[in-house]
Amino acid sequence: MIIGVPKEIKNNENRVALTPAGVAELAKYNHTIYVQAEAGAGSGFPDEAYVAAGARILPDIESVYEKAEMIVKVKEPIESEYKLIRQHQLVFTYFHFASSQSLTQAMLESKAVCLAYETVEKADRSLPLLVPMSEVAGRMAVQEGAKYLEKPQQGRGILLGGVPGVKPANVLVLGGGIVGTQAAKMAAGLGANVTLMDISLPRLRYLADIMPANVTTMMSNEYNIRDQIRYADLIVGAVLIPGAKAPHLVTRDMLKDMKPGTVLVDVAVDQGGCIETCQPTTHENPTYVIDHVVHYCVANMPGAVPYTSTLALTNATLPYTLQLANKGWVRACQENEELKKGLNVVHGQVVYQGVAEAFDLPFYPVKDIMATQVTA
Ligand SMILES: NC(=O)c1ccc[n+]([C@@H]2O[C@H](COP(=O)([O-])OP(=O)(O)OC[C@H]3O[C@@H](n4cnc5c(N)ncnc54)[C@H](O)[C@@H]3O)[C@@H](O)[C@H]2O)c1
Repeated sequence: MIIGVPKEIKNNENRVALTPAGVAELAKYNHTIYVQAEAGAGSGFPDEAYVAAGARILPDIESVYEKAEMIVKVKEPIESEYKLIRQHQLVFTYFHFASSQSLTQAMLESKAVCLAYETVEKADRSLPLLVPMSEVAGRMAVQEGAKYLEKPQQGRGILLGGVPGVKPANVLVLGGGIVGTQAAKMAAGLGANVTLMDISLPRLRYLADIMPANVTTMMSNEYNIRDQIRYADLIVGAVLIPGAKAPHLVTRDMLKDMKPGTVLVDVAVDQGGCIETCQPTTHENPTYVIDHVVHYCVANMPGAVPYTSTLALTNATLPYTLQLANKGWVRACQENEELKKGLNVVHGQVVYQGVAEAFDLPFYPVKDIMATQVTA
């Protein structure tokens, strides 16, 4: 198959969809890989490394889209890319269709095959291509929190781990899923005194078993949250209710009960935030202060560490990319239910229920469309 890797053009996006290691793996199966010049530069992978791994470099985005049967990307296509996507071309990337009607319409009109990272789903309902970014964001939440706790950054001026003779900081983590677990592990590793809350008792049991001794698990409810925020130096928001807006666990009136210089890192900002006073911010301007409390609410945290994020993402995507390249999308999706769930838009038809519902569009069961592909 002919595979194309364009350079990401969304503002401040430095990740790339394929590393030189991924190119080498695809080249073993005799696929042809075209990489746009400088596509990996932001993640620390020069063109020469791609060439050494077996890729050919193309000078511009137009030629990559023109030649490729399958495009592998990171972010959803932006408007200037819409017209480059061709009928029957397979595009494998994050789409987040339900949040953009114009993207959905453009992909329907293109008649391409759109397989979305975010809806590839395992039998246990986990989302294997979202997990790596949650791992990055969870670990980063504590790194950023530690930085903004410093006095010059308007924080309380407390070191997370303390020093001998001085007690460490208190870190409260709301939500014990992927983000929360990684955040708690990082904070505990730095020596902080960590409280980890979730509403799932089985999850709390598991976390209590695996977490180090400086992590205390606690049931998440308003009473416990009101109690704990008085002691917290850093609060990490990491809850998720699938398909819904995040609940406001920390409300505006609670800010007055916090110590001045407390830092709030609301990782759940992309689902509306679990801290009522959270408003999305950017890496250029990541924080703001309300009532002496520092808020960090960057919606694309992994974007700040493209080297780690690219490797983490491609570790997860490459096995699927290989299946798509080796078998073509129809057979790959027939033989792998996880991949099939990633199909959102196929040849001008919406095949993912959530997207059809979001925009009141007709929904076509994917198996019907795949059947016509096989016999066509
Ligand atoms: N800002 C970013 O850059 C970024 C990056 C990655 C993920 N995220 C977001 O982080 C959030 C968490 O993602 P995740 O992968 O950890 O999800 P997850 O599903 O693995 O974990 C969510 C956890 O929240 C718990 N929960 C639900 N309601 C709760 C409540 N009232 N109190 C306490 N816990 C509650 C659930 O039981 C679950 O354990 C999501 O909104 C995700 O989109 C943001």
